[in-house]
Amino acid sequence: MRKRLIAGNWKLNGNWALCEQFVDAFASLPAASLEAIKQQADVVICPTAVYLSRFDALIQSTSSILQLGAQDVSTESQGAYTGEIAASMLAESGAGFGIAGHSERRHRFAETDQQVVQKMQNLFAANVLPIVCVGEPIEQREAGSAESFIEAQLLPIATAVAEHGLAERPMAIAYEPIWAVGTGKSATPEQAQSMHAFIRSVMARFMDADSLRIIYGGSVTPENATALMAMADIDGALIGGASLDPEQFVALASV
Ligand code: PGA
Repeated sequence: MRKRLIAGNWKLNGNWALCEQFVDAFASLPAASLEAIKQQADVVICPTAVYLSRFDALIQSTSSILQLGAQDVSTESQGAYTGEIAASMLAESGAGFGIAGHSERRHRFAETDQQVVQKMQNLFAANVLPIVCVGEPIEQREAGSAESFIEAQLLPIATAVAEHGLAERPMAIAYEPIWAVGTGKSATPEQAQSMHAFIRSVMARFMDADSLRIIYGGSVTPENATALMAMADIDGALIGGASLDPEQFVALASV
């Protein structure tokens, strides 16, 4: 049985007040609801990195069920790389999870598969659970070549995991079709399930993929989350827009 992973990616949004609102929103739930959420899911917020330490201190001091993740990580581990943040620094600041290869990083910042793999390895090395994103553009979906596109993104990830002896280490794959991210047009549960099953079959060539969490991202809302997460191979969600609203995020964590 795979524990669900519900991760909110705040991107370049939010502020300290929102961090506090999220802790308050969960703290105000009845103890039984909190316990139920905790049993079924890891509930993770990925704020901008500058808030991690302070957010982590608040979570610890209030015994919140929230966990923290980083939105990105450097390919480097130390040195003269102005502005970069190393995986070990994220870990020390309270991040237990780290996103690598989000489509916005791949496209707007021209990140390559090789860099995504390096970021994943750095997260593993710092004991930060990597959430590695893959997703096809609309052209590939319409041309019927979505699976081969995703397979090409997965192979460098899976090969590195196998070659570096990481196959036993927990990680997650986030399937985020680019046409669904931030568009309000989610994949249907059937489309997502079909791709998740395909992703699991590809990863199974390199690891025991039964325990691999494969989460869906792309316009997830409390309205469509139940049907998505009812699918056999959908183990949670990576949420952008709806993760900025405490009420919606609590609803998503409670699905
Ligand atoms: P969205 O973003 O939920 O706003 O579509 C998802 C993501 O970018 O991870």
